[in-house]
Amino acid sequence: MGVGFLLTPTSFLDDCHADCGDYFTLRPARDRTLVITADPAAIKQVFTGDPALLHAGAGNVVLAPILGSGSVLLLDGREHLRHRRLLLAPFRGERMRAHADTMREVAERHVAGWPRDRRFGVLPSMQAITLEIILRAVFGVTDPAQMARLGEPLRQLLDMVSPPRRVLALGLTATRTTGPLSPWRRFAAARAAADRVIHEEITARRRELDAGGPDRDDIFSMLVAARDDDGRALTDDELRDELMTLLVAGHETTATALSWTLERVTRHPDVLAQLRSEQSSGEGTAYLDAVIKETLRLRPVVPAVVRQLQQPMTFGPWDLPAGVNIAPSIYLLHRRADLYPDPTAFRPERFLERTPGTYEWIPFGGGVRRCLGAGFALLEMREVLSVVLSDAAPRAQTARPESTARRAITFAPARGGKVLVGA
Ligand code: HEM
Repeated sequence: MGVGFLLTPTSFLDDCHADCGDYFTLRPARDRTLVITADPAAIKQVFTGDPALLHAGAGNVVLAPILGSGSVLLLDGREHLRHRRLLLAPFRGERMRAHADTMREVAERHVAGWPRDRRFGVLPSMQAITLEIILRAVFGVTDPAQMARLGEPLRQLLDMVSPPRRVLALGLTATRTTGPLSPWRRFAAARAAADRVIHEEITARRRELDAGGPDRDDIFSMLVAARDDDGRALTDDELRDELMTLLVAGHETTATALSWTLERVTRHPDVLAQLRSEQSSGEGTAYLDAVIKETLRLRPVVPAVVRQLQQPMTFGPWDLPAGVNIAPSIYLLHRRADLYPDPTAFRPERFLERTPGTYEWIPFGGGVRRCLGAGFALLEMREVLSVVLSDAAPRAQTARPESTARRAITFAPARGGKVLVGA
């Protein structure tokens, strides 16, 4: 495998696909085999398969130091489903849409501070926007002092594990040295500070709930109050792990997707003009939604999902033993010419002409592991991009596309999505 996968990940995958077809094997480490597939039938087999035989949690174990072992991302089997059901409620329908005003308000404040007539990469600002949005949606706090008390320790911890430093954080499990300057020690201190505020907040909200306090509709309060079919609530430690999961899973991914969308539309003035015309007509957001979908198709933030076989399985042309990791490639599936004619062209109209099948457009994965925040992320992208289009008039200095850089598990614009704003 080697440097090609690290430095030019997309052309590496394109080359493997061109040389080997819809199934090929990578060995990212001596003891780890990844069977990659771009075959829609195999991807359907994975997403509809028995979750007891296809574990996802095991593959995420590197995230355990930050998320904790009670995170939905790390669990499998019955416990995974139990947590997943409890977590789903705050992301349903009206509950979720209630966050739209917060999303706009946060975006407006940040975008107002963008430099005018100087090229800059939008990714850091998008990270700040999405972090503030998820913190506010989770905690339901607007008072700035209270937000700072809760948000700062979490911000510091998340900052330590954000790419590119995240690479370092992920390696922490392997190299837990404890000297005064060791990164593990600093990480452990930041985590302890974040855990302290979360546990204080859990205690306060439980007390409030027991006393029949105000009916809050933020994600945190809903999770504290949630009960499974047997009437069991999440324990304090489980709550802590799930809150951390939502913060980690929810902000970097969406920030990267927003940056790619701006990178793509500013390189396509015709698309930008169409977006402006839709916005000034006031007639909905169908085209903007198609732009978001087309960006997530051509520039998926998470390039693949992974499942570990718990039993031998026939997968496409191969009989695989237990223990092998199979990886539906989101990136390669989205570039199939039989599903998307002229696949490398950025053409949002294709989503207005035809709705792709369930296993043909999978930026959020699928089956019982499909991203819990998919609806939240799509709403957030729509709201933030509407603000950018109306308040910042983005454009590009060059039509040249930005290449893709690996940032931990995500594929991001190599230069952070460079744009110019201002009339
Ligand atoms: C554009 C933004 C996002 C992208 C591209 C994305 C992508 C993904 C992907 C590919 C998975 C794995 C699915 C699988 O294994 O089949 C996932 C899982 C997950 N995502 Fe997202 N995500 C995004 C935003 C969010 C947000 C905003 C949240 C929370 C607020 C979130 C929470 C989660 C959680 C909790 C899981 C684990 C689900 C499970 O294991 O049952 N994500 N996401």
